[in-house]
Amino acid sequence: MKNFWRFIFRKNLPPTSLCQMDFAVLGLGDSSYAKFNFVAKKLHRRLLQLGGSALLPACLGDDQHELGPDAAIDPWLHDLWEKVLGLYPVPPDLGVIPPGVPLPSKFTLRFLPEAPKMCSEEQHVAGADPPGPPSEQQPFLAPMVTNQRVTSPSHFQDVRLIEFDITGSGLSFAAGDVVLIRPQNQASHVQQFCRVLGLDPDQFFTLLPREPGVPCPTQLPQPCSVRHLVSHYLDVASVPRRSFFELLACLSPHELEREKLLQFSAPQGQEELYSYCNRPRRTVLEVLCDFPHTAGAVPADYLLDLIPPIRPRAFSIASSLLAHPSRLQILVAVVHYRTRLKEPRRGLCSSWLASLDPGRGPVQVPLWVRPGSLTFPETPDTPVIMVGPGTGVAPFRAAVQERVARGQTGNFLFFGCRWRDQDFYWESEWLELERKGRLTLFTAFSREQERKVYVQHRLRELGPLVWDLLDRRGAYFYLAGNAKGMPADVSEALTSVFREEGGLSGPDAANYLARLQRTMRFQSETWA
Ligand SMILES: Cc1cc2nc3c(=O)[nH]c(=O)nc-3n(C[C@H](O)[C@H](O)[C@H](O)COP(=O)(O)OP(=O)(O)OC[C@H]3O[C@@H](n4cnc5c(N)ncnc54)[C@H](O)[C@@H]3O)c2cc1C
Ligand SMILES: NC(=O)c1ccc[n+]([C@@H]2O[C@H](COP(=O)([O-])OP(=O)(O)OC[C@H]3O[C@@H](n4cnc5c(N)ncnc54)[C@H](OP(=O)(O)O)[C@@H]3O)[C@@H](O)[C@H]2O)c1
Repeated sequence: MKNFWRFIFRKNLPPTSLCQMDFAVLGLGDSSYAKFNFVAKKLHRRLLQLGGSALLPACLGDDQHELGPDAAIDPWLHDLWEKVLGLYPVPPDLGVIPPGVPLPSKFTLRFLPEAPKMCSEEQHVAGADPPGPPSEQQPFLAPMVTNQRVTSPSHFQDVRLIEFDITGSGLSFAAGDVVLIRPQNQASHVQQFCRVLGLDPDQFFTLLPREPGVPCPTQLPQPCSVRHLVSHYLDVASVPRRSFFELLACLSPHELEREKLLQFSAPQGQEELYSYCNRPRRTVLEVLCDFPHTAGAVPADYLLDLIPPIRPRAFSIASSLLAHPSRLQILVAVVHYRTRLKEPRRGLCSSWLASLDPGRGPVQVPLWVRPGSLTFPETPDTPVIMVGPGTGVAPFRAAVQERVARGQTGNFLFFGCRWRDQDFYWESEWLELERKGRLTLFTAFSREQERKVYVQHRLRELGPLVWDLLDRRGAYFYLAGNAKGMPADVSEALTSVFREEGGLSGPDAANYLARLQRTMRFQSETWA
């Protein structure tokens, strides 16, 4: 994509370069981001500029829409096929595959009569001699050292400080980097899934691609047990997408169930699917339990087409190797909430991590590291303003540790939580650093008074200092944490500081912020 992008935006491409090309651009965007579908819009315009002929206006899929990107994609695809089939009709000897007929599965599972003698699974995860640093293909099995709740027991939010031992892993990281963790399904969910689908968890199989050249997922050992497949690979705790219902309908031998599944797959059924599935956050496993005749008849070959793989989860690394050699720490908010369903909803990765207790025996977690979107200046005295409410403070703990160890000065931290005595992470560490003159801390305890006080209120109150640091002392500004509301509110507070303290007009204040962003002096890492 990078190469393509660089090439397509070369200035010297003649405006007729693509005059023989028909194209259509489908953007998969999210309107909670400032530049909604920026890439799709820009690409569409550029292809037009180069003489391409647009079959349709660009489709701007929006993850924030109640019905997801499908709300825009459905009508767009309908129009697209009409155009495409008009221009390039299907040859008469080839029919269009009718709805309701599944495509062949991507893989076949060849079941083995007995378990292999050598345990391929343990060998696979442990890896013989990994070439280079741990990666998605070859994660490091990190021993968990501690898993400590850091919110008070009476606080509604369970937040864990988790430490891993990374001795001998080849892992290395700097402040702002992120660790990726591949979680597992709960054992009871694995059992339930196997029961509903009529699978024997202890049976082994080898996975064969149906088409030559299709690679098998690297995360799966060969041979693999059904238990391993379901525990480590199939995301049975995710909320199923519409394509799941489409394929399930094709595979269903039960008339009533099939009818309902077809309804959920149709464009007209999307409101109903939303209230059945997305709003209450019903999982793949729960849906399969609701359609037992269909679930019991799903051919094993289709499992990998039907159920997406478990996604790794990212966590900002909360410690520095300079302060904690051979250790990697993260601060995890355990996702737990209720919908109208009886069972509370639990986040897959955070709940799995929280459930692991290294005090009861060795615990290992597959992980690897990648650069995050925050990078810190190396100069000794460039100030940094870090704004991290809640678990958003995690990357700044790493940054403060790193900067203090290197003797870098000008560390300003804005931290927000609900109550000083409930969820003030690393309070004693911050206070100690303040005492030593290594850190300036500003706190916002949102629920300690009638009116909410957030980090952005503190930024406004400290407007003269913030403006001085940014405008006169060349400070870098960082923001991390919950993507909902907070980033926009903090940006708004910043531009108001530019107006009030810098005397800038509204548009000039916005340009000032844009310039900080362009020059990497405003950086953010936010998550939903
Ligand atoms: C770069 C980056 C850094 C991150 N750093 C951290 C970090 O330092 N600490 C941290 O705790 N997390 C961090 N996260 C978030 C983390 O990756 C996971 O998303 C988070 O732990 C939840 O994962 P899970 O598997 O437990 O939940 P999932 O099973 O993935 O469920 C989470 C989903 O549940 C839904 N949900 C959650 N709460 C509600 C609610 N109240 N009502 C309705 N729906 C809800 C949302 O759709 C959400 O996406 C980071 C994310 C990124 C991208
Ligand atoms: N999906 C969501 O909408 C959502 C929202 C919040 C939290 N969460 C979940 O809660 C867990 C912990 O989240 P977290 O550690 O990031 O933060 P958090 O603990 O939820 O919040 C940290 C602090 O930020 C405050 N805050 C709320 N809205 C803000 C805003 N617009 N601007 C600035 N500060 C604001 C909170 O105040 P008050 O709470 O008093 O308002 C609190 O004092 C995570 O599991 C997260 O997914 C989810």
